[in-house]
Amino acid sequence: MRGIVLAGGTGSRLWPLTRAVCKQLLPVFDKPMVYYPLTTLIMAGIREILIVTSPDALPAFRHLLGDGSQLGLRLEYAVQPRPEGVAQALLVGESFIGDEPVALILGDNVFHGVGLGEQLSSHTDPKGGRIFAHRVADSREYGVVEFDGDGRALSLEEKPRHPRSPFAIPGLYFYDNQAVEIARAIRPSDRGELEITAVNTEYLRLGQLEVTVLERGVAWLDTGTVQAMAAASEFVRVIEERQGLKIGCVEEAAWRRGFIDDEQLRALAEPLVHSGYGRYLMELLGTRPAR
Ligand code: G1P
Repeated sequence: MRGIVLAGGTGSRLWPLTRAVCKQLLPVFDKPMVYYPLTTLIMAGIREILIVTSPDALPAFRHLLGDGSQLGLRLEYAVQPRPEGVAQALLVGESFIGDEPVALILGDNVFHGVGLGEQLSSHTDPKGGRIFAHRVADSREYGVVEFDGDGRALSLEEKPRHPRSPFAIPGLYFYDNQAVEIARAIRPSDRGELEITAVNTEYLRLGQLEVTVLERGVAWLDTGTVQAMAAASEFVRVIEERQGLKIGCVEEAAWRRGFIDDEQLRALAEPLVHSGYGRYLMELLGTRPAR
């Protein structure tokens, strides 16, 4: 399965923070935001990943992550010239996807929870589309899924003023190879975007959409506003300091997945020892690489 991280957009809801720095490179506590979605893909076992970003931000992502070989990944980069919707990432990534299935994750979505890696790993060869649902207190800012009595998806809506359910659709989508064709056929919404909800709606119409509810033990956070960013940072800080284990640590995830060995982890850790991040990686070396 190929992976795509969409790290585009102007970040205008975070101005002036994002005037000079791309949103997905801003910190969520102790690491750049993009580390979190990248970790999620690594946990799912995905090694070939395309970063889709704006022309201005691309060099900075390349500087941060390179060709990915240091993490046992193959990273490529592509430009989304203007932020014209999440589904556009599938079109930008068309040649990268080729004949494979694809996992698309938004660069500002943070997932954390027990069993998540194993759960996601089981969806890497989907028949149709596999999306997720997570209960939130206010679903109006998201794609929303309504279920029937048997837990089957009934309807999908993007940012409904009067949501039919509290189940938001997180920015993580697993698709078979039809996704590109479906994305090509959709038209921009009223807000001028190629909506990922339109892609999911087409899968639903075809009877090929599976929706997995993420249990309450899984945390899903996004970082769309300064308040949400601060909350995500605080969440990560509290868990990391309490447990002594990091969330969204790409190096650790790659090592636990067996994408890199002890020596490669040590090489990644050494330049980072001053910040404590490297010390953390060093200390992992004494432990068993259990997932
Ligand atoms: C996008 C999607 C929405 C999804 C959300 C998750 O919203 O359109 O369906 O629930 O990401 O973060 P946007 O980031 O464009 O507001």
